[in-house]
Amino acid sequence: MSPLHVTLTLPEDATDAALRADVLRGLTATPKWLPPKWFYDARGSELFERITELPEYYPTRAEREVLAARSGEIAAASGARTLVELGSGSSEKTRYLIDALPLSAYVPVDVSESALTQAGGALIEERPDLEVHALIADFTAPLALPATPGPRLVAFLGGTIGNLLPVERAGFLASVRALLAPGDGLLLGTDLVKDERVLVRAYDDAAGVTAAFNKNVLAVVDRELGADFDPDAFDHVALWDAEREWIEMRLRSRTAQTVKVPALDLAVDFAAGEELRTEVSAKFRKEGVTGELAAAGLELTHWWTDAEGRFALSLSVVR
Ligand code: AVJ
Repeated sequence: MSPLHVTLTLPEDATDAALRADVLRGLTATPKWLPPKWFYDARGSELFERITELPEYYPTRAEREVLAARSGEIAAASGARTLVELGSGSSEKTRYLIDALPLSAYVPVDVSESALTQAGGALIEERPDLEVHALIADFTAPLALPATPGPRLVAFLGGTIGNLLPVERAGFLASVRALLAPGDGLLLGTDLVKDERVLVRAYDDAAGVTAAFNKNVLAVVDRELGADFDPDAFDHVALWDAEREWIEMRLRSRTAQTVKVPALDLAVDFAAGEELRTEVSAKFRKEGVTGELAAAGLELTHWWTDAEGRFALSLSVVR
């Protein structure tokens, strides 16, 4: 059986330093905010997996539908021998690609070592012919890829690009472009603009799983930085910003309260009703995706959606 290569590109204390910097910046800003990447500790990752199974949360099912229907076309169009997956997580939907592409190497990239070794371990058992080279890395930082055969297909699925603000997206797409050589491609998953009620329900489900996921970021800050956030002292808020075409998740303080963050020597005052932004999840249109890719030097060649037109996968190539 081929070994599972795991490369740690994050310095040991990078996560801790980045969390401190983000929490300090976000909680001292007006309005307050925290970046969504801190949702995903073990409990947050488990809550996200439950979200993907909720009746209201359609993106995962819609994207799986596209992958199941189009993986043959994606394989024919890209001919990829190396699949690099950014934010691979459990790699569950990626199986459609792994099975269809003429691959010799799969390079999952994620900050979660446990997700990588679990998914990677299962994969090498099934596909001993495949070189699996897992990278523990933050895909928003510059990446060094292992030397594997081309063409390469970089996949960024799930609509996670929507978590980046427009200026961050431009920087991210430019850095992806820099990883690609002529003949390589980018497969990008984007959730699409649709009826506001459908969107808001997807981020405010009846069972309260998304509310628990949202509040989990407070538990992460409590555990990692010794803070005394009481998750029950905040309400989950999901709203649609029609102008910027994104969903925002927020946590609304139920009362006036002061939260201490000892590791940062910080006391944070919340007014009653004050909101802390925890996530932006942008929704896209074909014209916008085409334009953003073009601005990064990428040309959109394919656009596939699910039957209901809720979610798109696009394939783009170096111009
Ligand atoms: C994993 C970033 C694609 O924005 O829909 C799910 C995260 N947040 N429910 C999304 C999420 C609330 C999700 N992404």
